[in-house]
Amino acid sequence: MIAHLIEEAWEGDFAAAVRGVLPLLEGSYAILALCADTDEVVAARERSPLVLGLGDDEFFACSDATPPLSHIPGIFWSWKTGDLAVIRRGSVAVENGGETVVRETTYIDYDVEASRKGGFEHFMLKEIFEQPDVFQQSFRLACKHHGISMLLSRARGISVIACGTSYNAALLFRYFVEKECGVPVRVDLASEYRYLSTPGDEIVIAVSQSGETADTLSALKKAASSNCATIAITNVQGGSSITRAADDTIYTGGAGPEISVAATKSYMGQYAAFVGLLAGMSCSDMSAVERSVRQAIEESLLTDVNEAVSLCVGASTLFYVGRGIFYPVALEGALKMKEISYIHAEGYAAGEIKHGPPFALLSKDTPAVAVCLPGDGYQSMLGNLREMKARGTPLIGIGYGDDIDLQDVADVCIPVPPKGTHMRRWLR
Ligand code: BG6
Repeated sequence: MIAHLIEEAWEGDFAAAVRGVLPLLEGSYAILALCADTDEVVAARERSPLVLGLGDDEFFACSDATPPLSHIPGIFWSWKTGDLAVIRRGSVAVENGGETVVRETTYIDYDVEASRKGGFEHFMLKEIFEQPDVFQQSFRLACKHHGISMLLSRARGISVIACGTSYNAALLFRYFVEKECGVPVRVDLASEYRYLSTPGDEIVIAVSQSGETADTLSALKKAASSNCATIAITNVQGGSSITRAADDTIYTGGAGPEISVAATKSYMGQYAAFVGLLAGMSCSDMSAVERSVRQAIEESLLTDVNEAVSLCVGASTLFYVGRGIFYPVALEGALKMKEISYIHAEGYAAGEIKHGPPFALLSKDTPAVAVCLPGDGYQSMLGNLREMKARGTPLIGIGYGDDIDLQDVADVCIPVPPKGTHMRRWLR
């Protein structure tokens, strides 16, 4: 359609034809228009990602900075809404509203190796194994944002907006902050935020691995236009759309971008960023946390889960259950199962099992994964598991290796390292 509109507007000047068509377009877009008769590429964007990489005598226009980085030194042009770029051999001219403009360039310091598989069979596996680094670096980065932590601890309310995995990570933050600091936290799906009221005196945190998710971006803009202070948590260094729209950004660090679509290490990075912020908010000395969690993640990655996997093979539905902070963990487990295997899975707050349909749906064909660690709600959780067991559900328990009660009810136990006990303070 756009190509036809450009053809109709054509009067001999290609850039002018594209320029004339843009006001006719509705919605969000990023386009590169090429003409067979000239050596020009005209680039334009409206609320969709588009970056322009500047090399020696060559230019790369992409939706993301990663692909061109193996070809150019990492210099990107900061693109503003309404900008139109005319790229010719050896030159690029930028205009906005008919006026020629000069835009600042941004340098993205990026390890190209990070976008290769590094000996792993596929990216997801590589990214799962990067989690110890991601945790440590993201935690350190977040701890440096002491000013933001102070702001959050004094806030009347905090709203967190996100989609998918980022939303599940945000739910954890709610449990942590409300328990530890008493500041009310609201967590909304970014795509629903537009239908909800936005109190103007809140601090709004937008969480997005990519920094480009359109729903999260528009929710963030809504918050900003309601005079909320806005903070982004993202994994993309250097000028994502969400970073540009927020007042401040906390980067989740470690081992570069997440290439695999289903988030794994970015969930860990977001979790670490939230724990780092919480450390500042509650003025806690968490110096021991960094080391012990890193070690716990490393140990977890070596855990043999084959027995648990064989319990799930052939299932067409799985349940993931947890209470308290393990409820969002169950949601993320179910999301990951669905995203990666396309096997249907439901994440449930364990207490809800008896209120909804699960009791009717549970059978020997519906395995359940339960996160069950001693602390708040532990006995109730064991009770839930026994009820599930009575329906023949094959149970996989994730808990401490020496937990005899869990071993008694679960068919298979996946032990979590006792060094992960930094969480115990939130379990009580
Ligand atoms: C979805 C992905 O499209 O976007 C999810 O499938 C991801 O894995 C979600 O969690 C949100 O992405 P982001 O980049 O905003 O965190």
